[in-house]
Amino acid sequence: MRVSMMGAGYVGLVSGACFADFGHQVTCIDKDAAKIAALKRGEIPIFEPGLAELVESNMRQGRLEFAAKASRIGEAEVVFIAVGTPSRRGDGHADLSFVYQAVREIAPLLAGTAVVITKSTVPVGTGDEIENILREQRPEADIQVVSNPEFLREGAAIRDFKHPDRIVVGTEDERARGVLAEIYRPLYLNAPPIIYVSRRTAELIKYASNAFLATKITFINEIADLCEQVDADVQEVARGMGLDNRIGGKFLHPGPGFGGSCFPKDTTALIKTAHDHGVPLRLVETVAAVNEQRKRAMARKVVVALGGSVRGKTIAVLGLTFKPNTDDTRDSPAIPLITALHDLGATVRGYDPAGMEQAKPLLPDVHYCQSAYTAAEGADALVIATEWEQFRALDLARLKAVMAQPVIVDLRNIYRSDEMRRAAFRYLPIGRAGVE
Ligand code: UGA
Repeated sequence: MRVSMMGAGYVGLVSGACFADFGHQVTCIDKDAAKIAALKRGEIPIFEPGLAELVESNMRQGRLEFAAKASRIGEAEVVFIAVGTPSRRGDGHADLSFVYQAVREIAPLLAGTAVVITKSTVPVGTGDEIENILREQRPEADIQVVSNPEFLREGAAIRDFKHPDRIVVGTEDERARGVLAEIYRPLYLNAPPIIYVSRRTAELIKYASNAFLATKITFINEIADLCEQVDADVQEVARGMGLDNRIGGKFLHPGPGFGGSCFPKDTTALIKTAHDHGVPLRLVETVAAVNEQRKRAMARKVVVALGGSVRGKTIAVLGLTFKPNTDDTRDSPAIPLITALHDLGATVRGYDPAGMEQAKPLLPDVHYCQSAYTAAEGADALVIATEWEQFRALDLARLKAVMAQPVIVDLRNIYRSDEMRRAAFRYLPIGRAGVE
């Protein structure tokens, strides 16, 4: 099938490369000509494990190409919209200007029976608006508009695309349903459920899913705070809860608060949509507020670990991205943490395996280091802010030898108190007993 992908950002590039790998003929189109030129040279603008290899092999086999203009879009049977929908400055609504701009650009060029599919995360009713634009510009054509939201996680995007828990197809048109079934046919062997729903329902499934996952994380984070006060272990509480199939163990890992390019933005946008329709989502509003407070409060843990003040102290922070296996620092909990530490008079030494370039403009006062051990040199405390694999088995004796004081604040619970006790570290995890 001939597929065009409008937008070669995160979702567009991963989806485009995976569709090409299924055997479809894919063109990724992005108005950023420099990005397209780089992609043509085989340079991948985002950090995603396995993506460079996938793009390279599909380009070599002639199934994946890149273009800065939509001029040949008339050849495509299927056109995906995968452009960004950032938070609109000032009010938190999703900014749909890139979506509508893309639709206006392709409208006069589309084949008369094309199927236009939104993969971008868009508020309920956006598909209707796209349909209006297309109807106005192409009254003679039978172009169908479908919602097919994406559930990729950064760092695991290719796996998520090729082994989805479900595929959501939002359209009531039989022809369009057939086209979507054909696009995803290569996945039939793994038999993921395809659910066919109305377009508005599909749009809402995406936001409701992200808001629910954000709620689950926030719930366990608050339980972790309670565990600290009542001498219980949040890891065991989460395991004990998660073994109940109705609850499930995933996304019950406590931490410094959720970040990234999706949960903060999408919860805010959902809250706005709900308000507009007179149905305030009080639970989601609380989740968003609690999470923001939590990120800011993490510096308190470091203050406590150092006996009440960090003024004049040096703190090493390991992990600047919002989670491992990405270079993305958007809404990363490390940012308010480090900002607060600076405000409280500390010096911060930072290290991240992939996110330092993105962190530099956001956190210009950090001393950036080339490894976890260099960051730890002279530090009064070491904070683990992201659970990168390479932080899971640090040489504790080596750390202790270079640090000014043996203190570790583990915001991701990747160590155990008994190993820290043996290594003679003061250790503060989240929601369970540490080492005094
Ligand atoms: C999220 C969703 O998981 C994807 O399904 C969705 O497609 C994507 O948003 C999107 O809307 O595009 P992502 O933002 O890449 O994916 O990252 P997650 O793995 O979901 O993590 C989000 C944040 O929650 C991170 O800061 C992570 O550290 C935190 N988290 C996650 C926890 O603190 N605890 C957990 O148990 C899980």
